[in-house]
Amino acid sequence: MAVLEIKDLHVQREGKEILKGVNLKTGPGEVHAIMGPNGSGKSTLSYTLLAHPKYEVTKGDILLDGESILELTADERAKKGLFLGFQYPTEVSGVGFSHFLRTSYNALSKAMKGDDREVFITVREFQNYLKENVKSVGLSEEFLSRYLNEGFSGGEKKRAEVLQMAVLKPKISILDEPDSGLDIDAVQSVAKAISQVSDKDSTTIVITHYARILNFLDKLDHVHVFADGRILKSGDASLAQELEKRGYDWVLEEAKL
Ligand SMILES: Nc1ncnc2c1ncn2[C@@H]1O[C@H](COP(=O)(O)OP(=O)(O)OP(=O)(O)O)[C@@H](O)[C@H]1O
Ligand SMILES: [Mg+2]
Repeated sequence: MAVLEIKDLHVQREGKEILKGVNLKTGPGEVHAIMGPNGSGKSTLSYTLLAHPKYEVTKGDILLDGESILELTADERAKKGLFLGFQYPTEVSGVGFSHFLRTSYNALSKAMKGDDREVFITVREFQNYLKENVKSVGLSEEFLSRYLNEGFSGGEKKRAEVLQMAVLKPKISILDEPDSGLDIDAVQSVAKAISQVSDKDSTTIVITHYARILNFLDKLDHVHVFADGRILKSGDASLAQELEKRGYDWVLEEAKL
């Protein structure tokens, strides 16, 4: 079980306030979507959740299962089950993708002792597990023997982020625009892979500009409109359709921004 609670979160980057009082609570197994204009602070929120050192929390709190994680480093937060799929994944030369996945998986399993996670004794067992997952995001096995993201196309990088989520099975995943740059078929397979991971215990937050990927999800519990550094409006899945049709202006108007 994992409950993420963001309370009146204010965040600055290089002295400029970007997040201006974010409030959000997610329950176990829920799928949330965050939609909002460019530059409104969505990626800032995701970086802050994973302790990016350039983002300074000036007010508010982030709680995981009722405990503040503000003092924890990125790897400590990851070991508690938080995962971020980046909007712009970094190429890491020299780090083999499958080695990276196995090392991360084992580190998480060790940290999450007591949770019901599959144990892979041999490298071969783990490779078989990877192969199943690599197919589900529409990548070929060849990617596993390459360096992490190196030379991957934009869409391949996005699929690789979702592959990490599928393999690592975090408790709470934040996916920052997993659909940007994906071809039409990939949007569907990535959405399917996301749905497979989102089960009764695992929470997913999808940041996106388009309702399309959301339509392919098995379920979507809450949609939030993010603008000017905070959540202005929340609703059910139908809000995503309304935003796609009407844009954001009416929400900003309602909130008198
Ligand atoms: N170092 C910085 N100095 C000043 N402003 C910054 C800095 N870094 C980011 N910002 C600003 O913070 C704001 C929020 O950026 P962020 O990347 O969080 O937006 P976003 O909602 O993810 O946008 P998009 O939908 O385009 O991905 C932007 O206006 C950006 O220009
Ligand atoms: Mg962004």
